[in-house]
Amino acid sequence: MEIRAPRGTYDILPSQSVKWQYIEKILRETAAGFGYREIRTPMFEHTELFERGVGDTTDIVTKEMYSFLDKSSRSLTLRPEGTASCARALIENRIYSGVLPVKWYYTGPMFRYDRPQTGRYRQFHQFGVEVFGSHSPYVDGEVILLLIRMLEKLGLQDCELHLNSVGCPVCRETYRQKLVSFIEPRTAQLCDDCRTRYDKNPLRVLDCKERTCQAAVQGFPHIIDSLCNDCANHYGVVKASLTEMGVAYVEDHNLVRGLDYYTNTAFEVHIPSIGTQSAVGGGGRYDGLVSACGGPATPGIGFALGLERVLLAMDRHPVREWPDLGLDVLLVVLDENLTVNAMHLLDRLRVADIRADRDYNGRSMKAQLKFADKLGARMVVLMGEDEVERGVLPGRSMDTGQQQEVPQEDLIALIKRILA
Ligand code: HAM
Repeated sequence: MEIRAPRGTYDILPSQSVKWQYIEKILRETAAGFGYREIRTPMFEHTELFERGVGDTTDIVTKEMYSFLDKSSRSLTLRPEGTASCARALIENRIYSGVLPVKWYYTGPMFRYDRPQTGRYRQFHQFGVEVFGSHSPYVDGEVILLLIRMLEKLGLQDCELHLNSVGCPVCRETYRQKLVSFIEPRTAQLCDDCRTRYDKNPLRVLDCKERTCQAAVQGFPHIIDSLCNDCANHYGVVKASLTEMGVAYVEDHNLVRGLDYYTNTAFEVHIPSIGTQSAVGGGGRYDGLVSACGGPATPGIGFALGLERVLLAMDRHPVREWPDLGLDVLLVVLDENLTVNAMHLLDRLRVADIRADRDYNGRSMKAQLKFADKLGARMVVLMGEDEVERGVLPGRSMDTGQQQEVPQEDLIALIKRILA
């Protein structure tokens, strides 16, 4: 029987990976432009990190983690997200005692055992950023601005920025009690998931997509009306700084995020046209995360983009040509006896950063030209006995069909001219 990729995973074939490289390049460059540097953390961590960091009542921790015992019976988990790992790395490497804030970005696969559908996978990819060590609400504004600039650079349109504040543990507790009193008489209307969630984290009911739950919470009290002075001021400055920078947002009272570490600012970007999984990215402030993971109290804020969803949106609205990372030159070898000459010439081209290849399967000249076309080569160089003897080589542009013969030593200059 044929072995297939596990459910919820897929291959990124070369025709697609050029797009991934392009997206990652834009995101890396944009993050670097805002002062971020890359961090690479392990793909798996101690399970406890996510239990403590993400929260042991969240869907991610209770239902979606790929956890396993290693050969020494340690419980390890394939990372479902990147923020907890960054907090762990900050603590373990004592980064918190250096110059703050630190700005990190990361990209790579994340793993969640979720029901696969369009835009939702079990192995998916995020590009995330985290800032540790600043309470300033202007940092929140700058982080959100970075997200918006990234989406703009990728040419994405119809992005909706949703914004909310989930307060601090003190004002959230007051709000929680208000919300519980509001929902209590309506619990019979809640879906099974929410009835379980309700006891541990009633705020999660607010972003349930089930129609009955949405009806049950109609007219619910808004958290921003329960914020303490500090949290209300913080939120006010974040909104003012976005307005100052011309960033449009909608205040979304239902936005509570699915991870427990958030405090104050919470945000998501949606592109409704990509389907029900419309959140291309989300994030927020997490001032309690580092201490929850065993470090000294250190504030933080960040977000992650879901790259599958970014790609989905880019493919829906093809706004620009994808870069061509194909072959520059196919060397058409007209005689097997010229193999050694071909080896040397190919090597010279490649050393000169020209992407070059040849046929090894004994194709006829006509078939080699077809092969060049299939590979998307921009030029062919023809190598036959006669040319080698005369010390010249003809190069032909595949776009224009124009052919020019030059002495061997001038070939690289000719190729560069034609490719330019
Ligand atoms: P998150 O909202 O869970 O946040 O994920 C961020 C983004 O990852 C989502 O908006 C979505 O685009 C994508 N995503 C999540 N799950 C899947 C999935 N199963 N398949 C495809 N894409 C998915 C976090 O992960 C936080 N760590 C973000 C953050 C960073 N907050 C602060 N700093």
